[in-house]
Amino acid sequence: MIFVTGGAGFIGSNFVLDWLAQSGEGIVNVDKLTYAGNLDNLVSLQGDARHHFVRGDICDGDAMLALLEQYRPRALVHFAAESHVDRSIHSPSAFITTNVSGTFALLEAARAYWNTLTGREKDEFRFVHISTDEVYGSLGENDAPFTEMTAYAPNSPYSASKASSDHLVRAYFHTYGLPTITTNCSNNYGPYQFPEKLIPLVMANALAGKPLPIYGDGGQVRDWLYVSDHCAAVRRALEAGRPGEVYNVGGWNEMKNIDVVRTLCAILDELRPAPGRSYASQVRFVADRPGHDRRYAVDAGKIERELGWKPVETFDTGIRKTVQWYLDHQDWVANVQSGAYLSWVEQNYAKREAS
Ligand code: NAD
Ligand code: TYD
Repeated sequence: MIFVTGGAGFIGSNFVLDWLAQSGEGIVNVDKLTYAGNLDNLVSLQGDARHHFVRGDICDGDAMLALLEQYRPRALVHFAAESHVDRSIHSPSAFITTNVSGTFALLEAARAYWNTLTGREKDEFRFVHISTDEVYGSLGENDAPFTEMTAYAPNSPYSASKASSDHLVRAYFHTYGLPTITTNCSNNYGPYQFPEKLIPLVMANALAGKPLPIYGDGGQVRDWLYVSDHCAAVRRALEAGRPGEVYNVGGWNEMKNIDVVRTLCAILDELRPAPGRSYASQVRFVADRPGHDRRYAVDAGKIERELGWKPVETFDTGIRKTVQWYLDHQDWVANVQSGAYLSWVEQNYAKREAS
């Protein structure tokens, strides 16, 4: 079986669902169930003997080692993290704890477990670390996209903590020979994304008749990838990636935030029209994010050439599926908009709108 961390979050739960839809191999899914972890994402797996969910914290190295010894996985795929840039600006501490110390504790557990393996089991073990394009910092308008050779220049507490974890993973390969692979992916979107991130937040606010907050001038550029394409890239890296290597993953799809929001409004106008107005009338420009990176763009040529991975969805096809999924799963959205969610919205947006 394989061992997944963070498999109740957005990308992790998509990975677990896709994996079990395509393979007979079991998964032990270890997740702390922070505000971002949600077992509702995995209800379709109830009664599926291949899925073993364990509530656990990656910072607890002894518990991680005990689970590795109990389940004896052939590979570990590490998604667990604090993942939201705005939260990292308000409260960076949890990002250092989970993303840096937690990844360190997990690496130590994986190293101890891997050292008990022999022969083929040892050679074929993989530690796949899921990271972000944000570690490379911000690009100018005419700069070439990030390659695996681009120097790290993280600008937010989130990206700095992910960069630190990437360095630790690299060091465990070089120093101890632990067979690690790192993927650095661009912005994901799709089903089960928590509505604190741009795309699900805009959909939730649009349908609720609330303002659609655009930070700054809305001219920041992100590369967007549909989540199942990211999951396919991770599976490919696990299957055929070379230990010690880094693979950038992206959708070849750069868009300005304001254009993403306008596209969402246009699809909602078509699929769930609001009488007498366009959802675009709810757009509000609000105070910018401190240190806001202007542009991310990913050169995904290496994973295409070496591992034969390519995204299946274009932004047009992926965003339509995503909007339809949110419209069809309004109960899921309502369930995650708990008291904790509302206090986050108050903390992040009240002052911005006033300014
Ligand atoms: P998410 O915030 O939706 O989910 C994170 C999951 O990790 C949650 O289920 C949470 O409960 C769990 N978790 C947090 N701290 C934990 C701990 N100490 N121990 C165990 N579990 C813990 O995040 P996501 O968007 O699914 O991102 C998953 C990974 O992919 C992260 O490592 C992130 O940096 C990376 N990534 C995300 C994106 C994106 O656009 N969302 C893009 C590139 C890379
Ligand atoms: P986000 O989804 O938080 O992802 P990331 O910061 O990791 O790229 O934000 C995507 C972009 O959208 C980013 O440039 C910030 C911007 N943004 C807004 O303009 N308004 C919002 O309310 C949010 C959450 C994000």
